Formats: sequence, C-alpha cells, structure tokens
Amino acid sequence: MTAGKTLAEAAARLTAAGVDEAELNAQWLLADAMGVPRLNLLAAPGLPVGAAALRKFKKGLALKEQGLPLAYILGWQDFRDIRIKVDKRVLVPRPETEELAGLAAAFLRTRKGVLSAMDYGSGSGAIGLWLAKEFPALLLKSVEKSARALACAAENAAALGLADRVEFIRASTLEAIGGVVDLIVSNPPYIPTGVIPGLAPEVLSEPRMSLDGGGDGLDVARMLVRLAPSKLKKGGALLLELGGSQAKKLLAAMPDTVWKAKRTHKDLNGVERFIFAKV
Ligand SMILES: C[S@@+](CC[C@H](N)C(=O)[O-])C[C@H]1O[C@@H](n2cnc3c(N)ncnc32)[C@H](O)[C@@H]1O
Repeated sequence: MTAGKTLAEAAARLTAAGVDEAELNAQWLLADAMGVPRLNLLAAPGLPVGAAALRKFKKGLALKEQGLPLAYILGWQDFRDIRIKVDKRVLVPRPETEELAGLAAAFLRTRKGVLSAMDYGSGSGAIGLWLAKEFPALLLKSVEKSARALACAAENAAALGLADRVEFIRASTLEAIGGVVDLIVSNPPYIPTGVIPGLAPEVLSEPRMSLDGGGDGLDVARMLVRLAPSKLKKGGALLLELGGSQAKKLLAAMPDTVWKAKRTHKDLNGVERFIFAKV
C-alpha cells in the first residue's frame, strides 16, 4: 500500500464520519505513524507504508473518527516555535492563543530589569513556557486550578529545559498568589455554560474546566480584572484572550481610574478577541 492510496482512503473515511479537514488530519496521522515529515507524504505519494506504520495509523484514524482532537492522538501540539505535549488533562492550545503570546512578548520587550510574568490558567503551559523560552531571564508563575493540568505544564517545562525559572502554583483565584509581576497573561475559560452542550465532540472531549466560564463566560476574566491591579508592578499589564463579543463588553467595565491604555486587539480573523490594559 502506498502513502497516496492510504491517504485517499483515510480522507474518504474521515469525511464520511463528518470530520473537518479530513485530508489534513489523515496526513498528520500517517506522517506520525510513518515517522516522516507530513510534506514528504505529499511530495512522494508512492512511498510504501510498512505494516507497523499501517497498524498505528489505523488506530489513530479510528480515534479521529470518534471525534478525538488530533493533538490528543499525536500527543503534541506545536505552539509558535515550541512543541507542547498535550493529552486529555489539558485544552489543546489554539492558533489565536499563539497571537496572545505574541502580544505578551511585544509588551515584555518594552519592559526593563528582571522580567516576570504570570500565565493564569496555564493548562499545558504553552503561553508562559513559550515566553520563558523567548526571554531567557524571565521568571514565570504558571497558575492552574486543575492539578492534572498543572502536572502537564510541569512536564512540558522539564522537557523544554525551562523548569528552573517556573513556579507552578495551584490556585483558583489571583488572591492566593503573592508578589507582583510585569505581566499577567491569561486565556481563561470563557465559554458560557449554556453554550457548552452544543459544542463539537472534539471540543467536548477537552476538560470542562478549561471551557466553562460561567453564565456569560466571564467569571474568571472578571476576577482577573478585579484583582490583577494588586498583582502587577507599576506600568505592568494584563492581557486576556476572550470569545467573540466578550472583549468589548469586559473592556467597558474596566475603570479608567485603574486601567491605562486599555484597548482590544483583533485576531487574524478580525475578531476583537484580546484585551490589553496597564496599571
Ligand atoms: C481555556 S484554558 C487555557 C489553557 C492554556 N492557557 C491555553 O491557552 O492553551 C483555561 C485554563 O484555566 C484553568 N482554570 C479554570 N478556572 C480557573 C481558575 N478559577 N483559576 C485558575 N485556573 C483556572 C483551566 O483548568 C484551564 O487549564
């Protein structure tokens, strides 16, 4: 069996199962099973697929048909230029969150002295660990309510050689955290509770705690806006990722007496998704 034929059959199966981006999913799964770069499969569709690779591929394909996120099957997700281990303990980092990390880096580049940042609701650790990699002297607090997610973030920090600059803190409110930092960055759970039952099966296989933001989705974000000023250095910033219409709504509720230079940023799809504000 060749890679090209295997891919064509698999893509047809995934399409029939209602899986989005069937071809791309099939390519990633086969590349992983064969241990070759994905683009090699496209460049050389005549490559033979060995028996062991085919077995592994079929297992992955079956999981994908059942609606498991691709990253859980592969066991990793690329985030900017680092590879993050992911599994069902954590949300799969999204492309928009790579943009949030980029905004965080742009702000940190404006700061002087010993840099410190807090990744609140760190999940797999992606945002904060990428920042720690990008800023070799950055001290990071990786804060999580879920012990299982925090363990995943710690595994990622160790794998990336960053653990000595990361403090892992299990907490469910900013109140519990001592000290002040230059930046608090967060992609909190922001999906309104009532919307969750209608989400795609892939999303529903991610931890409920990483999705559910309460009645209007803003429970954790509101807590951060309320408490962040006492956890930031002078001139420090809060950066949040939110859903659709939420950023504008929350920004309007941030008092000008506390927050300076407050604004929303659009993501690459033109959605006003991010809030930036300084104290
Ligand atoms: C949307 S996920 C983001 C994960 C990761 N930062 C990312 O961007 O991929 C939100 C994370 O916040 C955590 N979380 C939920 N409520 C929290 C709370 N009250 N305090 C701290 N973390 C919380 C969840 O467990 C989850 O890991």
